[in-house]
Amino acid sequence: MELLTKVTVGGQELKNRLVLAPLTRARCENTVDPFDKMNSMPNDIMADYYAQRASGGLIVTEATAISEDGAGWRNAPHIRTKEQAQAWKKIVDRVHENDGLIYLQLWHMGRQSHSSHHPNTKRVVSAGNLPIADGSTKVKTVNSENADPEVPHALTIEEIKETIQDYVNASKLAQEAGFDGVEVHAANGYLIDQFLQSSSNNRTDEYGGSKENRVRFLQEVVQAIIDSGAFPANRIGFRISPNGVFGGMGSKDNYETFTHVAKTMNEFGLAYLHIMDGKGFGWHGLDRAVTAFDVKKVFDAPIISNVGLTKESAEGMIRSGAADLACFGRLFMSNPDLPERFANDWPTAPPAEYPTWWGPTGAKGYTDFPTYEEVQMSKSKEIKVVVSEDGVKEVET
Ligand SMILES: Cc1cc2nc3c(=O)[nH]c(=O)nc-3n(C[C@H](O)[C@H](O)[C@H](O)COP(=O)(O)O)c2cc1C
Repeated sequence: MELLTKVTVGGQELKNRLVLAPLTRARCENTVDPFDKMNSMPNDIMADYYAQRASGGLIVTEATAISEDGAGWRNAPHIRTKEQAQAWKKIVDRVHENDGLIYLQLWHMGRQSHSSHHPNTKRVVSAGNLPIADGSTKVKTVNSENADPEVPHALTIEEIKETIQDYVNASKLAQEAGFDGVEVHAANGYLIDQFLQSSSNNRTDEYGGSKENRVRFLQEVVQAIIDSGAFPANRIGFRISPNGVFGGMGSKDNYETFTHVAKTMNEFGLAYLHIMDGKGFGWHGLDRAVTAFDVKKVFDAPIISNVGLTKESAEGMIRSGAADLACFGRLFMSNPDLPERFANDWPTAPPAEYPTWWGPTGAKGYTDFPTYEEVQMSKSKEIKVVVSEDGVKEVET
């Protein structure tokens, strides 16, 4: 299978073309005080989870908050302090010991957060001052209650520069933690996506209006990370979701916007472009869908495709040359040995139950999925029933 062949990303050889999707699982400790530092501290169970999935060619971590303003998901990890970097290092080391490679996803939620997460500023921020307006999206308060989206504060130019420095700080800490690279989260309606899309960016300065202006924030984030020396360009990837609705997104000019984003970001010589081009995570239908191949035509480094892929569709996509790597979320959640299952034509386990996706269920639905071989071994320990002469049954296992 082409899917299981090696590929080079950022000068590193990946053992196959399967990528573990960034998946928020909210498994940091759940303390009573929502601002307890353990609430956002990477921990041992997360190390188990990532180590279990290190047979994928590349792991992209769950979204990780770069700043207090950027945070907004209880029990999701942060990378703002040296202590958090040291905690992440234990996870990175486990993945490396298991022959895996791991990029950290850098996350600022922008208007998808809630002000209760930000005791210092008591507000949410975005590119402009437009709240999420799809009528159905609820945001979560720091106590995990549903709330209506708030009207965001449009970042000033000075605050944009400060936010870029938060990305730099987080990247330096990621480098200290030993990550192989970083993935800039520019997808799913979070802050950078709010700048990119015309439906959420109503600025009238050099960060709004034209597609050239809307991509400026992403360009400056990437340039600043490179300039800081945290990671070279070829160890920085970025993720986009031009077709998705998550976070109330979708714009009628997304085809033009995101093909431009790919073209202009190509100039950096980055590690990869990660595109959620499938429609299975919500599809806005406002414009023609942007495919992996659309961006591949204008982007030289590897393209990672995602959403709804199966072994067959991923293989077809890679063989056809439409993308270089295939990213799996829900399938990799419940199949820690997904590459081995594909290689051996073994069946895959059913998806994890929804309450375990990002609920505080600990190991349940997180690290308790057996590999196919473990399932077979437990089956082979047959229960043997022996009936003795006096009719007494003995059970041997
Ligand atoms: C539980 C869960 C958490 C997710 N968290 C993130 C995240 O932290 N960052 C991100 O970019 N996408 C996130 N996503 C989207 C996934 O990365 C992926 O795009 C989505 O699951 C579709 O891929 P799939 O069809 O292979 O599951 C999440 C999806 C799920 C189901």
